[in-house]
Amino acid sequence: MTSPTPAPGTPYGTLPAASPLPQRRPISLPRLAQMREAGERITMLTAYDATFAAVADAAGVECILVGDSLGMVCQGLSSTVGVTLETMCYHMASVSRGVRRVQGTAWLIGDLPFGSYHESPEQALRSACQLMQAGAHMVKLEGGGWTAPTVRFLVERGVPVCAHLGLTPQTVHALGGYRVQGKGEEAAAQLRRHALELQDAGAAMLVLEMVPAQLAASLTTELAHCHTIGIGTGQGTAGQVLVLHDMLGMNLGKMPRFVHNFMQDAGSIKGAIEAYVHAVKDGRFPDDKLHAW
Ligand code: KIV
Repeated sequence: MTSPTPAPGTPYGTLPAASPLPQRRPISLPRLAQMREAGERITMLTAYDATFAAVADAAGVECILVGDSLGMVCQGLSSTVGVTLETMCYHMASVSRGVRRVQGTAWLIGDLPFGSYHESPEQALRSACQLMQAGAHMVKLEGGGWTAPTVRFLVERGVPVCAHLGLTPQTVHALGGYRVQGKGEEAAAQLRRHALELQDAGAAMLVLEMVPAQLAASLTTELAHCHTIGIGTGQGTAGQVLVLHDMLGMNLGKMPRFVHNFMQDAGSIKGAIEAYVHAVKDGRFPDDKLHAW
């Protein structure tokens, strides 16, 4: 095979004129609120390293979550309980560098791991500062009731907070397994109370994991200032999140039934993530038939 003869003047031929970088608007809390008001669904995906984060950003994902699911996905742990703040900061910094290297625009969320916010609001603030210094724009913490004062304490000090209710993986041992939450009148009423308290405390986002679709949809209507992001909760939330490796069909354990393998029909990882983004935006994912609870 012969290579093309370089044009005179440069070793690689005539260089094309530098094309301007496409203008993309950075994702911010006001931008997410605008999207919601316009009825556009918010997309979120986990990522744990620079390259995957850059690809997710380029594929149009608005929010990248450095989830403590990295304990299971990257570290081979059997739950998220063993993940440390130091590990979270390491992955957070990698993701942040990856996104910045491609001049990305994604909103970056970091999970506060088990034990890093449970003692006191002051401990939560110290942990949140470390995650934000590693690149997070927002921190996520699990649970309701006792967490509301902590959320208020963080928000008052300039830390945006995403709450997480329903199946909260850090308390898997207390919950007795990875099972649907908020079923039955009493459980649903408690979840609703916790969600409203978290909004009142200033949480700007709320991940709802494995709760009945009807409950998630009605909470979404009630929470005007807190964007609900569903996983295993059906169509009715303001946005959707999946664990990256799950939606690429790579799972060391049992694939949750609400996950779709977007890699199946895609020619590349970026293509699979773009397909996820489009499917969420068009309302083709999630499939409510797979959310019978
Ligand atoms: O850690 C994580 O990946 C999460 C998502 C499942 C929402 O919390």
